[in-house]
Amino acid sequence: MLHDIDKLDRVKPDVDGLAHGEGSAEWLARHGYAELGPAIVGHPVTRIADRAWFETWIGAATPEALIVSYADKRAGQRLESMAQRFASWEQRYPSAVHAARPRGSWTADTLEQVRRRAEELEIRVCELAAVRPAEVRRLEWTGRAIAAAAAEWHR
Ligand SMILES: [Fe+2]
Repeated sequence: MLHDIDKLDRVKPDVDGLAHGEGSAEWLARHGYAELGPAIVGHPVTRIADRAWFETWIGAATPEALIVSYADKRAGQRLESMAQRFASWEQRYPSAVHAARPRGSWTADTLEQVRRRAEELEIRVCELAAVRPAEVRRLEWTGRAIAAAAAEWHR
């Protein structure tokens, strides 16, 4: 629930200049939750576009880091498949479909590599949890936990 905290307007200025994810980890460390950082820093989908980074990370990542990264690739506002999530990213950050790519966007080749690495991540996490991707569900308590956290945040 905290991995994207560096995207919030009231947090962003405190971690200005840090990459997404690193900003969340830094902000959490400053607020007494440094132990959450390692599970968070590797979650952005942009990280897995970097082959060398991904190969090192997936070999060394803790189960928590793998799960946060995988969850990021399955959850928009609701739980969705990775295919749906990637389709939504593509819609928001068009890449290969546009000839004149904005700076920093992905080529079709990079996008394909990112999809393959995300699938590798999915296989790894689902093996760890002994479930199939289609069996991944939100547990019953998550709705209450999210509502409680939102209420706390808005106090
Ligand atoms: Fe994120």
